[in-house]
Amino acid sequence: MAIFLSRSPEETRAWAETYAKTLSAGDVVLLDGEMGAGKTVLAQGIARGLGVEEDVLSPTYAYVNSYAPLFHFDCYRIGSVRQAEELGFSDYFDAGKVCLVEWSENIAPLLPAHCKRIVIRKTGENEREIET
Ligand SMILES: Nc1ncnc2c1ncn2[C@@H]1O[C@H](COP(=O)(O)OP(=O)(O)O)[C@@H](O)[C@H]1O
Ligand SMILES: [Mg+2]
Repeated sequence: MAIFLSRSPEETRAWAETYAKTLSAGDVVLLDGEMGAGKTVLAQGIARGLGVEEDVLSPTYAYVNSYAPLFHFDCYRIGSVRQAEELGFSDYFDAGKVCLVEWSENIAPLLPAHCKRIVIRKTGENEREIET
């Protein structure tokens, strides 16, 4: 377990950009933390580290956004595991891209057996504890 203390969104992105270098194709990374903790900011940094040049925005309404090397899921509004199955989530996990998953607890039965996890906690207005 490692803890990093971030003092700004950009520090979080920079940390995540470095973290991205430890990932391999097909890795599924669960981004855990409360609403507003910084899960999407982490996804932006990981995307940057994987060479994505497009803006990475929250996929809250689309559930999943696709970029060349990665899928970015936001399962906050997923109503049931069945809905996630019907959206083909299992196929995304098997596609050999990096998968970043916000609110993964809503689709727990569909997750692969071995996932990585980053927990981000709000410890101040602009301060976050990032645990791997
Ligand atoms: N150190 C920090 N790291 C990440 N986000 C931060 C930090 N300090 C402030 N923030 C702010 O917290 C919010 C995090 O939002 P977001 O990443 O969308 O959260 P989540 O996806 O977890 O709901 C953003 O408005 C961001 O600017
Ligand atoms: Mg988010």
